[in-house]
Amino acid sequence: MPGDKSVSHRAVMLGSIAEGDTIIKNFLTGEDCLATMNCFKELGVKFEGPFGEDLLVHGKGLRGLSEPSGILDAANSGTTMRLIMGILSGQPFLSVITGDQSLVRRPMGRVVAPLAEMGASIMGRNENTLAPLAIRGGKLRPIDYISPVASAQVKSAVLLAGLYTGGKTTVTEPAKSRDHTERMLRHFGAAVETAGNTVSVYGGPTLRGAEINVPGDISSAAFLMVAAAVVPGSELVIENVGTNPTRDGIISALKSMGADITLFNSREMNGEPVSDIRVRHSRLKGAVLEGNLIPKMIDEIPAIAVAACAATGETVVRDAAELKVKESDRISAIVSGLRNMGVNIAGMPDGFIIRPGNRLKGAEVETGKDHRIAMAMAVAGLMAEGETVIKDYDCVNISFPGFYDVLKSIAKE
Ligand code: S3P
Repeated sequence: MPGDKSVSHRAVMLGSIAEGDTIIKNFLTGEDCLATMNCFKELGVKFEGPFGEDLLVHGKGLRGLSEPSGILDAANSGTTMRLIMGILSGQPFLSVITGDQSLVRRPMGRVVAPLAEMGASIMGRNENTLAPLAIRGGKLRPIDYISPVASAQVKSAVLLAGLYTGGKTTVTEPAKSRDHTERMLRHFGAAVETAGNTVSVYGGPTLRGAEINVPGDISSAAFLMVAAAVVPGSELVIENVGTNPTRDGIISALKSMGADITLFNSREMNGEPVSDIRVRHSRLKGAVLEGNLIPKMIDEIPAIAVAACAATGETVVRDAAELKVKESDRISAIVSGLRNMGVNIAGMPDGFIIRPGNRLKGAEVETGKDHRIAMAMAVAGLMAEGETVIKDYDCVNISFPGFYDVLKSIAKE
């Protein structure tokens, strides 16, 4: 599997502000992570590669970044923009950051608010809630932040800013979001404390360059898992998949729908759990997916929606209003894409209901240039009768370059 997107972003970021070199193996060369690398180049960090999937970062240390002469471009990547804002808030210079048509519509007030409370001065469109954003960083104070959303991007922005304070910064979330930042900070030598949904970091650590082996991305594997689960006769082994418990909701969700999934060869790589995963086709049944499970599978909901089309009985996804502020409004993209293919699906403000029964029909489907919608529709297309045409199909390069080749290689004629 190509490297995990969340882990690849964080490896570039922490490698950039660490002392000495960081070697990243199985770095995801998708457009999102390249955007992060380009932002740090603008901040004066030197890279070698990526050579294949290996990337070398010459770290500048916590205080070694320099004022960018141009505007930082986070492209399509919310992770790039929100996490880097935490780091920029601690810098004694001005940075301006923007992104593509999708990113400039996504909510940034959720990171601006705590970073401003820590002492950063941030200005942007729409009352400082939308990019482009100008950040004048400096000395920050530690805060005890109660986040209204379970968002790893918000949590990580505050923790990264916390590195630039003289004390202990704490974030508490309503439900536990992915914890890659915490794990990687520890790996680089920072002191991090966790208790339930609360995490704290101490300011002023010396981060030491490290070797990071990036696990395969479970969010990309999800599409292949669903393909194998729904296409009769399938048996698929996916090697080297990150199975961090804050990200493995797709496995529990598919299992609760009756999928035949086995994890084996489980191991740990730089503080991240990794397994090989075997998926065999089986008859799926509907399920209700809600509550604390949702943050653990938020990016995999487009894939789960496709699995639900092959199940007997109704599937309900709720408590997932966050889907509306992803790379596209994913509730409306899933509803209109699958409905176009003949699925009985109803949207709700925080999810959708799928009542399977109709055979999927190939159709021309819009993606809104959202990579995960394109991959979901491609897997739905495998199940459908007739041809499916995916508009802006190449947006998959955001997170899974080579997706169609992999799908072709595992699909039977
Ligand atoms: C990510 C966090 C999640 C996720 C995104 C990647 C990260 O977003 O949807 O694809 O790497 O921290 P939120 O923090 O908005 O939930």
